[in-house]
Amino acid sequence: MLEKRKGITVSRQIMDDQLLHKDATGALTGVLNDLVVAGKIISAEVNMAGLADVLGQSGKINIQGETVQKLDVFANQTIKRRMEQCGHICIMASEEDDETIPVLDGYEGTYTIAFDPLDGSSNIDVNVSIGTIFSIHRRISDSGQGTEADLLQKGTKQVAAGYIIYGSSTVMVYTSGSGVHGFTLDPSVGEFFLSHPYIKIPEKGPYYSVNEAYSPFWHDSTRQFIDYLKSDAEGMGGYSARYIGSLVADFHRNLVKGGIFLYPRDKKSPEKSDGKLRLLYEAAPLAMVVEQAGGRAITDDGRRILDIEPTSLHQRVPLIIGSKEEVDLAESFFKA
Ligand code: AHG
Ligand code: MN
Ligand code: MN
Repeated sequence: MLEKRKGITVSRQIMDDQLLHKDATGALTGVLNDLVVAGKIISAEVNMAGLADVLGQSGKINIQGETVQKLDVFANQTIKRRMEQCGHICIMASEEDDETIPVLDGYEGTYTIAFDPLDGSSNIDVNVSIGTIFSIHRRISDSGQGTEADLLQKGTKQVAAGYIIYGSSTVMVYTSGSGVHGFTLDPSVGEFFLSHPYIKIPEKGPYYSVNEAYSPFWHDSTRQFIDYLKSDAEGMGGYSARYIGSLVADFHRNLVKGGIFLYPRDKKSPEKSDGKLRLLYEAAPLAMVVEQAGGRAITDDGRRILDIEPTSLHQRVPLIIGSKEEVDLAESFFKA
């Protein structure tokens, strides 16, 4: 394990991580470095959002039936443009695109990427943290453009995953299987520097994050679990609730401070029968990050997120993710 020095650049770290894999070709380094560039471009645009004419809604409805905000479109295009000519990607999936996205002919590589270009879009025009989530797999097909099957691989097969949060500062958190590292963007020089080496999520945390407005529609196990946390039976002096409505931001806080995030299935509408969040580009990448950091991610019927075999690009999955002790506890309620 290479010693991590706070202040090294993200590109240096990505190369160091690659050196740990003896058969590495540098391709993954190439993908991650291009993602870093995309993150810087999106971060700059997010910071300009109050000034430039990018606020408000573009009027289009995405495949999830939600109104797409202009910054979503911008972030989506930015990542697609970087990735289609990166030379190491063979196919992409994005929350904002119904179908798989090809790369430029002649640029097909060995990896796939699935991403949520801008997570937390309801928070864009109110100065609340938003983020980009990504998940990278090695292709299973031989050559040429990738196929949907290359993308529909389970989370345990991810070779790298992470997110970039555009908050009070812009932070990139990623893992390529040897720990989780966080980098903070210094906008004055346009570089990400290591600020959070080997992130470990606290074993037990003070926060729970769930949209409590849905409690009338919760299944009993969800209600019993949240009531239990509030009852202080765990002797925490009581948990605190924190819910931002940007998964990346809620996740990042709990990763650093400890706690649990839940988006369980509920009875609100038929579409919510599997919760709301998407397996390939929301749940699975954050599950890889949290496990690498010592936490856990499961469904509300106790399945490990990383073990789920995807069947479609945009499939939803109930998500319970965070500190080990709280997820263990949740599991005992959901399995009962
Ligand atoms: P997105 O903006 O990419 O569509 O994701 C929004 C998600 C996620 O960020 C958040 O955790 C969740 O929606 C909040 O949903 P509710 O408003 O139903 O709580
Ligand atoms: Mn999202
Ligand atoms: Mn999104």
